[in-house]
Amino acid sequence: MNIKQLLTEKTQAAFAVLGVPAETNPAVTVSTRTEFGDYQINGAMSAAKQLKTNPRQLAQQLVDALDLDAVADKVEIAGPGFINVTLKADWLAAQLTEAAADPRLGVRENPQPQRVVVDYSAPNLAKEMHVGHLRSTIIGDAVVRCLEFWGDTVIRQNHMGDWGTQFGMLIAHLEDQLAAGVDLEQVALADLENFYREAKKRFDDEDGFADKSRDYVVKLQSGDAHCQKLWQLFIDTSIKHSDELYRKLNVTLTHDDIKPESAYNPMLHDIVDQLKASGLAVEDQGALVVFLQELADKEGKPSPFIIQKTGGGFLYATTDLAACQYRSHDLAADRIIIFTDARQGLHFKQVELTARKAGLLRDETAYHHCPFGTMMGEDGKPFKTRTGGTVKLTDLLEEAVVRADAVVREKSTGLSEADMQLVAGKVGIGAVKFADLSKNRTSDYIFSWDAMLSFEGATAPYLQYAYSRVRSIVRKAELADDFSAVIQLQQPQEKQLAVKLLRFEETLQLVIKDAQPNLLCNYLYELASLFMSFYEACPILKDGIEPELRASRLMLSIVSALMLKQGLDLLGIEVMERM
Ligand code: ARG
Repeated sequence: MNIKQLLTEKTQAAFAVLGVPAETNPAVTVSTRTEFGDYQINGAMSAAKQLKTNPRQLAQQLVDALDLDAVADKVEIAGPGFINVTLKADWLAAQLTEAAADPRLGVRENPQPQRVVVDYSAPNLAKEMHVGHLRSTIIGDAVVRCLEFWGDTVIRQNHMGDWGTQFGMLIAHLEDQLAAGVDLEQVALADLENFYREAKKRFDDEDGFADKSRDYVVKLQSGDAHCQKLWQLFIDTSIKHSDELYRKLNVTLTHDDIKPESAYNPMLHDIVDQLKASGLAVEDQGALVVFLQELADKEGKPSPFIIQKTGGGFLYATTDLAACQYRSHDLAADRIIIFTDARQGLHFKQVELTARKAGLLRDETAYHHCPFGTMMGEDGKPFKTRTGGTVKLTDLLEEAVVRADAVVREKSTGLSEADMQLVAGKVGIGAVKFADLSKNRTSDYIFSWDAMLSFEGATAPYLQYAYSRVRSIVRKAELADDFSAVIQLQQPQEKQLAVKLLRFEETLQLVIKDAQPNLLCNYLYELASLFMSFYEACPILKDGIEPELRASRLMLSIVSALMLKQGLDLLGIEVMERM
């Protein structure tokens, strides 16, 4: 069910009758204020401009031509030509009763499913995952869940950084550690950050170590068995570490989704040859460079995009070109979505332009780099530990659960110790995720424990609590398992809640369009708030409520809970029956 789309189609039909050009946008939106009805049709103004007539007059003609008798009981013109539509309570009630009986809650499946490659998380295996990867992981996973629910075929690709010069130094250090008898699990898994620092120190200070490291890079890249084996050991251990984090975070990425940088290695020679042969890439001071006039600076100097270093080494950029070819041609993607922090914006513009020119990206494949802002500490500076180090994600998540435990203990009553811990886990992880997802993706945001764990405002605990509250109301009614009822909408609060419930598909489509899970967060917060208003205004279990009304209100509560659960699930956040 999609009311916006229904009104859009009705308006388009009326436009056709009036001779308004077909491409005119009907501009259907949700009314911002209740006195403007439920939806607004704002397209009359631009239609009038096209036909060079008076907008109010055209609005009147549009109202006359609109066939909304079945769905609306008021269609009014306001201001210069806005059309305010007030939907019929009976019609809404019938739609919602139908949605309630549908396992998809009335959300249709995408009539034109796409193949979408989503590149997210993508930590660098040489180092510990940091907060930037946390954002990519959480946002990417929410978008993936939304795409799949809508009916697209999603191919997750975890573009892990497992290749590059630093691995020479890491495997040289690993070799020595193993020779000295240190247990592998102890070396790398326990403290990747520290391991990297040790290797780097030896690289800088120790005679001969840098040369050995460089030698190992060359050997590794040319397929030397000994170096490959050390590298594989290192990589496997590091992947175990990220796997653990994904499980803790309730993220859907698995081992099968890993398509690391090294996987593109066999393609790089050909890609570079092809770019050279076509004249797109030219030699410049020994390196191979694509000069992009489209991205020229203020003086008109083209933007240089290096695809091969002096001495022949390939780069991050070369790999991303190969990834374009693989995803667009081999995987036949209709759309590629990549989540990284905003600092990589220029890089992906360069990749897309070059790949399009070289035919590595088909015209039919949309390429969306979706940047996100930086996570800031409460001091307004990039999020760091008190001593200025990078915050380890494991520590961060552990702290989230400990803090949630304290909050939950204070708030909840009658939970067993085991349940309390379970709830704390879901609230803590949910809080971190929701705080991240609810912000406008592209802006920086301030990481605040107190704000994200609050039971007021748009937070995971608020929504999780709202869910368990609704469930407890329903439980009290002691309904039969197969209970169902016809929904009736009498009070304004009931109607408002119903309109919101029927806007799930509309919201989902917006989330998917520009990869913006924050819109789903807003939706769920508003939904929970509308439920609370409904619950205050409309008694459900009180004595003397007529049985059909009681059943209808219980049904409204059940659908609200289902919708909250479904929405939070698409954000990767778990709910519980009691908390
Ligand atoms: N590993 C990269 C980083 O940590 C992110 C990779 C994103 N994906 C890509 N195709 N380049 O910054």
